[in-house]
Amino acid sequence: MESKKVYNGKVLVAGATGRCGQWVVKRLLHYGVKVRVFSRDREKALGLFGESVEIVSGKIQSVSDVARAVKGCDAVISALGSSSYSGESSPSDVDRDGVKRLVDEAVKAGVKHFGLVSSLAVTKWYHPLNLFNGVLLKKWEAEEHVREVFSKGPLSYTIVRPGGLKDGEPLCHKLHVDTGDRLWSGWINRSDVAELLVVALWVEKAKNKTFEVVNESEKEQSGLEHYYDLLPQ
Ligand SMILES: NC(=O)c1ccc[n+]([C@@H]2O[C@H](COP(=O)([O-])OP(=O)(O)OC[C@H]3O[C@@H](n4cnc5c(N)ncnc54)[C@H](OP(=O)(O)O)[C@@H]3O)[C@@H](O)[C@H]2O)c1
Repeated sequence: MESKKVYNGKVLVAGATGRCGQWVVKRLLHYGVKVRVFSRDREKALGLFGESVEIVSGKIQSVSDVARAVKGCDAVISALGSSSYSGESSPSDVDRDGVKRLVDEAVKAGVKHFGLVSSLAVTKWYHPLNLFNGVLLKKWEAEEHVREVFSKGPLSYTIVRPGGLKDGEPLCHKLHVDTGDRLWSGWINRSDVAELLVVALWVEKAKNKTFEVVNESEKEQSGLEHYYDLLPQ
């Protein structure tokens, strides 16, 4: 059975206009969850989502823009990702500092749950992807900040470390989940990463978890929340 929505809060999606972020928005709307998106490009967000979501435009580098975006939200899901070697879309600015700024402003605003799209191999400093200006190291620093801040008291987090991302519909593959950053390869649909982060809003076993995920064989899934039963408690 597909997961039933039991979440009544409003969710801010950062990186919503990206390929994974669009799926996060789609799956939140599928469950009837209220969505606000934070985008540097209002027209792009409007073109993608129309009136179905609230849009707050601003820069991830601006504390006041981020504070405005998180205000009144109950959860944040970040699908942000750097796209250039240096400058304002670099790993330092987006994958590390952008995410850290979101965390800091979210906690000040009373946000209770933080979901993050990270990556397989974030703990491996020697991984070739780090040639892209240390992107995995930057993601690791952001992860550590999420864990430190959102594990306190009633707060919670869910960090998904996907393998290589592909496009395609959700719930079409069996998944393989693991912890400890032991997987070296594998693929997963962005839509399944989105689904895992969305159901984590209301699945208790998803709280305060960091895990890797890749797909296995093609097989229709009625839901993904049972994969959280496979993670160490
Ligand atoms: N590609 C892979 O195989 C792979 C594997 C594992 C993990 N990941 C990670 O998974 C995440 C999602 O990947 P994806 O393929 O969905 O990424 P994507 O399509 O490139 O989306 C990235 C998002 O980040 C936003 N962004 C980039 N620079 C920004 C800036 N300076 N200010 C504000 N927003 C900015 C983009 O905004 P705009 O829409 O305005 O450009 C977009 O919404 C990323 O963190 C990526 O590193 C990727």
